[in-house]
This record gives sequence, structure tokens and C-alpha cells, in this order.
Amino acid sequence: MLDKSIILLSLCLISAVMSCGQDENKARYDNYRLVRLTLKTTDHVDLLQELEEESDSYTFYGHALRPDQNLTVLVAAHKIYEMQDIVERNGMDCTVLQPNIQKLIDDEDSTVKSKNTPASEFDWDHYFHLETIFSWMDKQIAENDFVEALHLGSTYEGLPIRGLKISKKSGNTGIFVEAGIHAREWISPAVATYLIDQLIHSEDPEVVDLAENFDWYFVPVLNADGYKYTFEKDRLWRKNTKPYGRCKGVDLNRNFDIHWSGTGSSTKKCTYDFCGSKAFSEPEALAVKLFLDEFANKNKIQTYFSLHSFSQLYMFPFGFTTDRARNYDDLKKIGEKAVEAIKNTHGKIYQTGSSIETIYPNSGDSMDFVYSNYNIPIVYTIELRGPPETPTLFILPAAEIKPTCEEILNSFIAALKEARQLGYYKRDEL
Ligand SMILES: *[C@@H]1O[C@H](CO)[C@@H](O)[C@H](O)[C@H]1NC(C)=O
Ligand SMILES: [Zn+2]
Repeated sequence: MLDKSIILLSLCLISAVMSCGQDENKARYDNYRLVRLTLKTTDHVDLLQELEEESDSYTFYGHALRPDQNLTVLVAAHKIYEMQDIVERNGMDCTVLQPNIQKLIDDEDSTVKSKNTPASEFDWDHYFHLETIFSWMDKQIAENDFVEALHLGSTYEGLPIRGLKISKKSGNTGIFVEAGIHAREWISPAVATYLIDQLIHSEDPEVVDLAENFDWYFVPVLNADGYKYTFEKDRLWRKNTKPYGRCKGVDLNRNFDIHWSGTGSSTKKCTYDFCGSKAFSEPEALAVKLFLDEFANKNKIQTYFSLHSFSQLYMFPFGFTTDRARNYDDLKKIGEKAVEAIKNTHGKIYQTGSSIETIYPNSGDSMDFVYSNYNIPIVYTIELRGPPETPTLFILPAAEIKPTCEEILNSFIAALKEARQLGYYKRDEL
């Protein structure tokens, strides 16, 4: 008896020691509070810039840039009083948007299907692990002879960077849809898979037209390591997972070779917008470049969409400068048609404009790189639901997946129709 309990006790001790590094150590956000600060003076701006610079207990969504700005900040539980004190002593306005982020994450759990869910149970009412998305892609490839697997490379951790091509006839111009570059933006891969599903299965004449008359290249989960990490380790992770010193991860959408490490990106390893050790230091960003080097021209890819969340924006170049893109007026017109189509679907309001005009300055992103380096005149970065000050951040309720997908499909129909009317895609004339 005694021996047995000693053995049992030892086993418990061993498992207690082993648990450090296991899944029960998943990041938690109990009582983390999301607040909106209204900056009124340049003193407020300076103060908040200092706070972002010096403390990792506050996560900023955007940066303090100017007076008369609303800034959303996630405050760690142990800093709630400190934030209140700062706000009161400096006469800022503060609104609590969400009192407890962990509750959102816990509530979302019931809408996440388990890892071993088969492809036959795939839908747009739940969120799915990488494994199910991949098996769903395999199913599409196996069942449709006009759907082909693409392999763009491997992630840092050795997962495949998988894509899928839909081509129903030769001679089409191509459209590239990049999703899941930011790990926590789960609605992005969900919309990509919906678009694939509709292009394959829809009988709606406008969707059939897009499926027949364009070739489609989809990468539903570009940052596969990061996506997996958000399911298994930390729901709010954004970057990939490559270690840099004591920290991990590069913001892949700051790692492209276009004004790399410039405005709106960081050279500090631990920040959420760390741009990497050099342009294309990360295999995931490099994979997109190598694919386009090989196929952009050969396969007539003339359109590029990058799907993100949140803020409800339909953005076009540039992010790093207020200089206008050469076809700015066309991009604006097409963007206006797209957001009108979105509004006509479920009434949601998206804004369109260049990236620096609509969101914030940013450098090294895929959209600006693609626009500047290939003959691809139609490029958009779409920030999907929710609205700019959504109290749910990236944790979009699963009930909103399908409506988001529907409005984005309609925006594609409208945008591509307008682009055609403006004379794009007549390859022979280029
Ligand atoms: C900040 O948010 C408040 C409340 O939603 C709004 O009334 C105000 O217009 C916003 N200010 C700016 C500069 O966006
Ligand atoms: Zn993003």
C-alpha cells in the first residue's frame, strides 16, 4: 500500500513538473479590459506613445498619433487601476468596451469544432482547426478536376503553405486571394474557404461567371504556424512563431520588401508589428514572393486580395506614403462599388480608401509589395468585420461568419465587374 501511494505521489509530482509547457498553460486574459481612450491634446499623445513604448501590459490597437483620436487599448488585469489613474490625472476620456476578454474567448470555445472534425462537417457557422481546413481543401481537390493543389513552401515550423487553384478554362487572367497572414484573424481563412466553396459549387450566374472567367489562386492560411498557435497556445497571437531572442514571431505583413522597416512597423523583436531581421526573413512571406515571381506574369495574375480583420475597410495602396497609386481613381471607384455591394447585402458599412488614409501608416505589407513589383493593378487589403471599435476584437461571433462571407462574395462580384468596365483584364492590350 505504502509503495503504491509513493508511486502515485511521484507520478503526480512528475506530471506537475511536466505541465509547464503543456496545453493547460494556454495564455489567459481573465479580467483583461478593452478600453477606448479619447486623446485630446499633444500631451495625451506623448503620454500614450510613452506608455506603448515602455510597458508590455498594454496592448495597443493602432498607435497614438494625434489629438482628437480614439485609441483602443487592451489593459492587463493588474494594470486596470493604473490606467484609471492615468486617465483621471490627465483628463482623458475613457470608455470600457469590454470588461473581460477571457469571457469572450471562453464563449467562443463552444463555436470551435474539435481538431479531428472531418471535412464532411465543415461549414461557415463554426471555426475550424488547421487540420480540418486542410482536409476540407483535400476534399475539394479530390472531388473537382478543375481544382488543383498548390504548395508554396513550408512554414518556420515545417507545416505546408498550402494553396488551391480553381481554373475552368485556359487563357483566363488570375486572381490571388491571400488569407490568414495574421494568426488571430480567424474570419479571414473562413471567408477564403467560403469563396472557394462558392466558386466551385454555386449556381448563381454571377458567381459562375467569376468561376469560369478567372483563374483563382487561394492561400487560405498563409501563417499556418500562427493559426495553430491561436488554437493551442494564445488566442490573440498575430505573428508567425519563429524565435527572435527571448521573444517570438514576425509580423508577416511587415516582412515584404517594400519600404521594409519603415513607418508603422517595428524593429523591436517583442512588438506585435516586428518586421523581421530583413525583408523576406520569414519563409511565409518569401513563399508568396517566390510564387508570384514564377507565376504572376506567366499565369496573368492581375488581381490580389489580402483578407484581414477587423475594421471594415476596403483598402488599396499605399500604406507607406500619402503619394497616390498610379490608378488611384480606378481603385477608389472599384472600392466604392465593393462597399456599396457590402452595404446592400446585410447593411454593414465598410470604408474604402488608400491604406494610409483609412487605417494607419504601415510598411512592408503584401499589398504594397505586390502592387509595386508585379503587373498587378488591382490590389486590396480587406479588413473584415467587426467595426473599428468593436468590443470583441478578433473574436468575431461565429454567427457573423456566414453574413461576412456573403457580403464579401458580393463585393468581389461588384469589384470585378467594375474593374472589367474600366478596361482591366483585357490582357492583349497590356
Ligand atoms: C471617438 O468615439 C466617440 C464615441 O464613439 C465618437 O463620438 C467620436 O466621434 C470619436 N472620435 C473620433 C476622432 O473618431
Ligand atoms: Zn491583419
